[in-house]
Amino acid sequence: MLKGRSLVEPGDFTLEEMDGLFNLAEKIEEDSSFLRESCRGKVLATLFFEPSTRTRLSFEAAMLRLGGSCLGFAEPGSSSAAKGESLADTVRTVACYADLIVMRNPKEGAALLASRYADVPVINAGDGGHHHPTQTLTDLLTIKRLRGKRKEGLRSTVQGLTVGFCGDLKFGRTVHSLAKTLARYENLNMVFISPGELKVPEYITTLLEQQNIPYREITGFEDAMPILDVLYMTRVQRERFFNEEDYIRLKDTYVLSPDKLERAKKDLIILHPLPRVNEIAIEVDTDPRAAYFKQAKYGMYIRMALISGILGVDHA
Ligand code: CP
Repeated sequence: MLKGRSLVEPGDFTLEEMDGLFNLAEKIEEDSSFLRESCRGKVLATLFFEPSTRTRLSFEAAMLRLGGSCLGFAEPGSSSAAKGESLADTVRTVACYADLIVMRNPKEGAALLASRYADVPVINAGDGGHHHPTQTLTDLLTIKRLRGKRKEGLRSTVQGLTVGFCGDLKFGRTVHSLAKTLARYENLNMVFISPGELKVPEYITTLLEQQNIPYREITGFEDAMPILDVLYMTRVQRERFFNEEDYIRLKDTYVLSPDKLERAKKDLIILHPLPRVNEIAIEVDTDPRAAYFKQAKYGMYIRMALISGILGVDHA
């Protein structure tokens, strides 16, 4: 039962609960009319202290499609945070007006703090370079839709997959959340492709070692291409750099172009949480393996499933 629960970290839900969400999202994709008015009278608050297109708008679209309403802010300058209000006071207040809070904040741990102060469930829409659990649900639903079978658990879908993560693996919160979640399954491999300065944090590799998940850390992009089943591209996270010169030096380390895909598997799935800056050439968009815009759409279906679950909608 997800009713009344917050989602702060990818591990907050069991694998069975995630399978329930994937199955519901697939049903919603087919025909969402059974949920059309299911959240009538409920209010979703989106509190975005950092920019967003997909996460905020897909949450709001999801709530509207469920018959509910949305309020919130898209940048902190228009909230009383600009006057010095603490996050704890902000979420306590918003919990008086809304049934569910979705929050993005540049500070790691902000979502956990918010969940402790708010009287309503809080969904972490990204806390600094830490986690972005609903992006992970989106990523996994995309892999399941493109690789798995209807009603089969994700465990079967990811069996034997080699998943490559490429780009800014240090600051990319979507990478941290996805790798941490994939580590909960068995019989898969990971390849981390990044410059030395943007390597995946040690807590992730330690976790993989504890879970006996084979992984490699490499800098060469092309070498890994023939073995990958999933390639998860990421942008270099300019907003997390202390030094603009470092960002400029590293930002174009990897640019996926059609020639680089020549040696890739025919059924490779190319994902990207987006926004893209320069790391995937637009010519790749027409490659049937490019799945990043489908991924953005699946983000809305999984968020419809998530909102309805947390608000206690009866799906029978
Ligand atoms: N994937 C993602 O978090 O995109 P936005 O920053 O546009 O929300």
